Amino acid sequence: MLNLPLLFTLVSTVLLLYRYVIYPVFVSQLSKIPPAHFTAPVSSLWIRSKRRNGKTGIQSIFAAHNRLGPIVQLSPNELSVASLDGLRQIYTGAFEKTVWYSELANLGIPNLVSMLENKPHSLQKRMLSHVYSKSYIRSSIDLQELSRVLIVERLLPILQKAAESAEPFDAYSLNQALGADFMTSYLFGTGNSTDFIRNMKARKETMQNFRTKTRGLPGKEKASRELDALILSLCESAGASSQKTLSGASSHPVVYSELSTRLSKSGSPLPNPINLAVASEMLDHLGAGIETTRITLTYLQWELSRDSGLQAQLRSELLTLPPLFSPSSEANLPNYGDIDGLPFLEAILKEIIRVYPPSPALLPRVTPQGGAVIEGYTIPGGITVGTSAHCMHRNPSVFPSPSTFDPFRWLGKSEVKRREMDRWWWGFGSGGRMCLGSHFATYMLKVLIVTIYSNFQTEIVDDEGIEQEDSFLAGPKGEKLMLTLRKVEEVKE
Ligand code: HEM
Repeated sequence: MLNLPLLFTLVSTVLLLYRYVIYPVFVSQLSKIPPAHFTAPVSSLWIRSKRRNGKTGIQSIFAAHNRLGPIVQLSPNELSVASLDGLRQIYTGAFEKTVWYSELANLGIPNLVSMLENKPHSLQKRMLSHVYSKSYIRSSIDLQELSRVLIVERLLPILQKAAESAEPFDAYSLNQALGADFMTSYLFGTGNSTDFIRNMKARKETMQNFRTKTRGLPGKEKASRELDALILSLCESAGASSQKTLSGASSHPVVYSELSTRLSKSGSPLPNPINLAVASEMLDHLGAGIETTRITLTYLQWELSRDSGLQAQLRSELLTLPPLFSPSSEANLPNYGDIDGLPFLEAILKEIIRVYPPSPALLPRVTPQGGAVIEGYTIPGGITVGTSAHCMHRNPSVFPSPSTFDPFRWLGKSEVKRREMDRWWWGFGSGGRMCLGSHFATYMLKVLIVTIYSNFQTEIVDDEGIEQEDSFLAGPKGEKLMLTLRKVEEVKE
């Protein structure tokens, strides 16, 4: 007699076994790709365990690439790729972002970082590209004026005082304030900007809100509401000041004005209401600008403070410039053309972002419906694929001793070698979703480095926990870097 229930159980078990084990491990197209862990083809448990508590698992992914090559499987529907072919296919092939990014919308309205579809994204990006382009940044009178205000009126007196008192200060916290004040000054004008360089209380409150929001800590909703309120009030002040002629001491709300004007003229079905769309975008730039600047500048100060020879070499290059902002002389506007052309400064910045990329983790995208071929493997549509700056920057055949901070590796190289290194350097991403603020960030960082290291020598007092945290934006685990300053004249004596 045919035992129907038994037969049913048997067939179901075989089918399930085929669907969830035999097919993914032996038959599917992905089965040809080396798994980062033996369970990866059938389960996402392994990668999920590496990503617990906001971690990205980048060290385990990097270890898997070292063992298995440029493409590895992380889970039944996720791959990591670390190669030039991967970069080209995924990022210039305009694969769309994964839904993970949609959580980064502000005020419930998408912005450049959080938009998933490429079409609305590229419309909005085009509206902003002009004010973030290299040529605009190089010649912007507003940027020169806001740099003068922030550096001469706000930063230098604080640094001067720190040098005179020889009291240690937390560079990581000050760098966060610098990122915020530079960003809000460019977005909204100096008359409407934050003043976190001088106002420690306001700095701490707002930065705690960013921390609580981005890490999803208890109180996240309240922190989000307070940040929304802050950005809406900054937008309101910028809106009012863009209507009137500004006094000589204020810069224009460059980005706010540009986006408001372009959105209201566009006539296309772009986000509504416009004021919230602008505010969402402004909060996005503020968040993107603060942490990345802070992390980069802090690691740069740390590496330079560990090696007084490097500092001296940088300073001798900086002193070839015409006189710059200094506490003792009349304020001079930095000529950005001259600053941008300094080779050692450029090498130091590139190397800091290579070794300590502020966002070292995978930047996930989805393969298009028709699938894709990456590194010779056929990958079906709907699979999450991503590349990471951490893995790209640590290819030893391109960057020998890849974990060592060595700015000289960028100098005196042949055209061919230099081009190869540039292609593997991925600090700002690439393709249509590449960093919008890369030229602004470079400007801000270079002007700050020139100001600090033309005038002062930095020394480490406490760098406990300086190693990079495993998170999407990866600052020092200890969330601090205590430094002291000495005036350059005293160093020479
Ligand atoms: C050292 C400084 C910076 C680094 C290393 C950096 C890095 C990056 C990277 C790697 C991406 C790509 C993210 C992804 O594809 O998921 C990105 C995107 C972005 N960054 Fe930056 N960034 C920096 C500074 C800034 C600044 C100052 C701004 C201010 C405007 C900014 C605004 C943005 C925006 C709006 C995007 C999204 C672009 C898009 O999707 O079209 N970033 N950044």
